[in-house]
Amino acid sequence: MQTEIIPLADDAAEERAEALLRAGELVALPTETVYGLAGDAASGSAVAAIYAAKGRPQFNPLICHVDGLAMAKRVADFDPVAERLAERFWPGPLTLVLPLAENAPVHPLATAGLPTVALRMPQGVAARLAGRLERPLVAPSANPSGKVTGTSAEIVARGLSGRIALILDGGPSAVGVESTIVRPFADRLVLLRAGGVSREALADAAGLPVTDPEADAAIAAPGALASHYAPEGRVRLDAAAVEPGEHVIAFGPAPLPGIETAAAVINLSPTGDLAEAAAHLFAALAAFDSPDIDRIVVASIPRHGLGEAINDRLKRAAAPR
Ligand code: TXA
Ligand code: MG
Repeated sequence: MQTEIIPLADDAAEERAEALLRAGELVALPTETVYGLAGDAASGSAVAAIYAAKGRPQFNPLICHVDGLAMAKRVADFDPVAERLAERFWPGPLTLVLPLAENAPVHPLATAGLPTVALRMPQGVAARLAGRLERPLVAPSANPSGKVTGTSAEIVARGLSGRIALILDGGPSAVGVESTIVRPFADRLVLLRAGGVSREALADAAGLPVTDPEADAAIAAPGALASHYAPEGRVRLDAAAVEPGEHVIAFGPAPLPGIETAAAVINLSPTGDLAEAAAHLFAALAAFDSPDIDRIVVASIPRHGLGEAINDRLKRAAAPR
């Protein structure tokens, strides 16, 4: 299959995407977090094609993208806590895991048969296309399963070219890490994946404690695999110093000891800004993702705010495979 790549410049680009989605084809498109590989949520063949194009196991369910709360309520049952979070953070990088509504316009393959569904309202073209179709779009991150997430059309094309109909090029992703995934309950929020909305912001908005899924093993995100986002080379984290010949992902103004012996250096944020670092994270991993690069080393990055999501992705990129 020939993959078209067109800039997200005008209405014609969106019309092309709409026509392909209506025909059950797959379209990679920008969201504020990362690029998504979108298909019609109600179409079993489109959903199956997403799993095939990514090489993703079918027990790992997809996120539904909606154009607002009205469409979201056709997909899932909202309680007051969920509604408050949606009102506060949508459109934006927050995914809610909620009970699947009766007659939801979502194919069972997309939810992997679970009684719950993950959904969010993104910013921009993904929401507009769901609106045009009057149906949710399922869209996992636009990368082959286990590989570095696409935060630009170039990275997406590297992984998926020839396997999908179209890539809409909207430039680099603004947030750069995936959405935060939360399962709201009346008395607590269970944080299933750290992401673009910080734990602190969630707790503040809900007025509830934010807990980790270890205590609730049955509801952990099925896709939260130990090894993910993996470049070809080995990744060493929280480096105190650089060994000669290493490829370095740096952070902040202070140079690591030995940095002058590095093969190459990418600084995620020379000023030490976590939002900027998140936006540059996957592009840095992609730049060092090559059979010729066997040792990547990463500076220590603070763990608060967006730092939680950054450290989560790095831990998986460094995990044994
Ligand atoms: O920012 C994002 O969330 C991006 C953009 C494209 O929206 N999407 C994304 O999708 O990161 P994906 O498929 O790479 O990650 C979705 C995660 C998976 O780990 C999956 O297991 C989890 O969401 N998930 C989906 N449905 C779930 C459910 N019902 N319960 C718990 N986890 C669920
Ligand atoms: Mg992903």
